[in-house]
Amino acid sequence: MARSYDTPGEGMFAPEEVDPAVAALAALAGNGGALEFAIGTGRIAVPLAARGVPVTGVELSPAMVERLRTKADEATIPVVVGDMATTRVPGDHSLVYLVYNTISNLLTQAEQVECFRNAARHLGPGGRFVVELGVPSLRRLPPGQDGLVFAHRDGYVGLDTFDLEHQHLVSHHIRFEKGGEPSVIRVKQRYVWPSELDLMAQMAGFELESRHADWKGAPFTGDSRSHVSVYRLPERA
Ligand SMILES: C[S@@+](CC[C@H](N)C(=O)[O-])C[C@H]1O[C@@H](n2cnc3c(N)ncnc32)[C@H](O)[C@@H]1O
Repeated sequence: MARSYDTPGEGMFAPEEVDPAVAALAALAGNGGALEFAIGTGRIAVPLAARGVPVTGVELSPAMVERLRTKADEATIPVVVGDMATTRVPGDHSLVYLVYNTISNLLTQAEQVECFRNAARHLGPGGRFVVELGVPSLRRLPPGQDGLVFAHRDGYVGLDTFDLEHQHLVSHHIRFEKGGEPSVIRVKQRYVWPSELDLMAQMAGFELESRHADWKGAPFTGDSRSHVSVYRLPERA
């Protein structure tokens, strides 16, 4: 996954995906430091640091960090290898952020709650935790069916299969190479409704400050496919 994650200038690395997120996060960080949970290869952290925001990270995969190190050294973006639900990172932070649906990579409710608590541990009064997450697409699932195609184009099919009892889904990314065998990458996730996320935030001491449908501030509605939620600790603890 680390080898093929980056698609410079395209897909999730396209300027129209990255730039609004970086601008919004820079504004939310203000004059403080930012901590990215699950920093990956630095898709957001590298341009955010380039804007002058001090950025640190947590990342479970050393292979992803190795890719990040081809773009930014340890002095520019320090990273601690570990689990975002439990790992402590030194430094003063005004902002913790967790983007691209990655809270869903924690497969139990208990771990997701711990992730909120860990974000709170890294922040002082008034500090913010930003979560970007898809809205579960269960409304598109016809009765009796437990899978749906979420994207398809020449050479690619994306299929989600749901385990409704355990609130899990598996995203299957199927690629058809010319003249070769198809390749499949499967990613298991625990999907979460915005309301459940708000309750986790409340348990960790946060209040919901804002929720929009995207990084540019489009209104969040009943039809929104994803959301950017900004949680904030009270000014006085
Ligand atoms: C979809 S990528 C997002 C990477 C980056 N934030 C971005 O926006 O491109 C998900 C990342 O989460 C990392 N990850 C998964 N579970 C994690 C955990 N429990 N703690 C820290 N990182 C985790 C993966 O290794 C991967 O780098």
